[in-house]
Amino acid sequence: MRDNHMEFTRPRGTRDFLPEEVRKRRKVEGIIRDTFEKFGFEEVVTPTFESLELITAKSGDEIREGLYHFKDKSDRDLALRPELTAPVMRLYVNEMQKRPKPVKVYYFANCFRYERSQAGRYREFYQAGVESIGSANPEADAEVIALAVEALKNLGLENFKIHIGHIGILRGILEEESVSEAEQNALMGIIDKGEKSQIENALLKFSSDTRDYLKKIIELQGKPGDVLKEASGIVKNSDEKITELEETLELLESFGVKDYEINLGIARGLDYYTGIVFEIYAEGLGAQNQVCGGGNYALTETFGGQKTATSGFAFGFDRIMLALEAQDALQEGDGDVEYLVVSTSNALLKKAIEISAKIRENHACEVDLMRRKLGKALAYADTSGIPFVVIVGEEELKKDKVLIRDMKSGEQKEVSIKDLK
Ligand code: HAM
Repeated sequence: MRDNHMEFTRPRGTRDFLPEEVRKRRKVEGIIRDTFEKFGFEEVVTPTFESLELITAKSGDEIREGLYHFKDKSDRDLALRPELTAPVMRLYVNEMQKRPKPVKVYYFANCFRYERSQAGRYREFYQAGVESIGSANPEADAEVIALAVEALKNLGLENFKIHIGHIGILRGILEEESVSEAEQNALMGIIDKGEKSQIENALLKFSSDTRDYLKKIIELQGKPGDVLKEASGIVKNSDEKITELEETLELLESFGVKDYEINLGIARGLDYYTGIVFEIYAEGLGAQNQVCGGGNYALTETFGGQKTATSGFAFGFDRIMLALEAQDALQEGDGDVEYLVVSTSNALLKKAIEISAKIRENHACEVDLMRRKLGKALAYADTSGIPFVVIVGEEELKKDKVLIRDMKSGEQKEVSIKDLK
């Protein structure tokens, strides 16, 4: 390889997006944003990197192990954001605590996790998420879940599965067993990964009664009616958590969400969750099928703010794209360019540029930069999906006119330049 002719490849786990792909992604992004905004959430933007301490507080082993962490030139420890809940809570505590509640914000941003890259798992990926801040009522949790479901429905995603649980139940049991918070977090991380043998191993330190009890809870999963009844029978000292779950589910029904499962084994991969948690899985994605994760959490006090009820979720945007693709739900779609202006001779190029500038006041318009002959220019418009070609020719110009060709019908008509809008 010669010095000045090096070929570079993308860093592992990152992707380039070509125009056709970006077009599809923007469309999907737009529908998600629309849905978030219809529920009254407003967008916030936070920095791509934050202090390492902020990111590692209550984040969990998996996140910490996968951090892109670096020191800047002033020796500050920083990290690329692996998610946005912690940054948004920092922003809330710093700037938004005095606002009337609830404060409802959303974000759409790239995140970074140094993970084993595979289909649906990237080192740079995108999250679209919301945080609902300030209401401890079950309707706030229900709304957040309903919003996630509504967005997926609006995207036309089919056959996704919603699992809802309550992390307080598992944590409550561990607390009663005097398991330290750090140990609880480690255990929740293992449960979240879902490897049966690892879970069995981790549970070995408990008495066989506690072990059985924990296993029963972790495996408690199914349609709400049955599971809730079973849970009330099994779960000791957690009545208020079961009631919380029931109340939220009742309200969720009013929001129009009826098709979900209860899963008390949801442990989530982040340490800040405290109450109701939920995950959504899509079809056709293999192992990386979790397209959404969220729930009730506590971070404001950790960041020096007042105690505030918070819940939210984040979509894995890239996985949603994969799921829609697997379902063939993404239309190819044309680009935005409506007009291509081409001159029949190089002598008329300046005129063509002037005309394109006029058309561009109201439409997306390209002027031919390749000095193509007319036939080639028409072929270019055809393959590029540009619906109209404006032909600037000698004869028509004499009458202050141009020809407009409708690429679909092949019809051409003369139009006065002054009438071009
Ligand atoms: P999370 O479950 O860690 O939660 O991430 C949310 C979603 O991001 C996942 O369900 C998944 O779809 C996607 N995701 C995570 N890692 C990757 C990756 N390496 N490649 C592609 N997609 C990925 C959170 O981040 C929480 N902040 C969600 C939340 C908001 N909870 C409350 N508010």
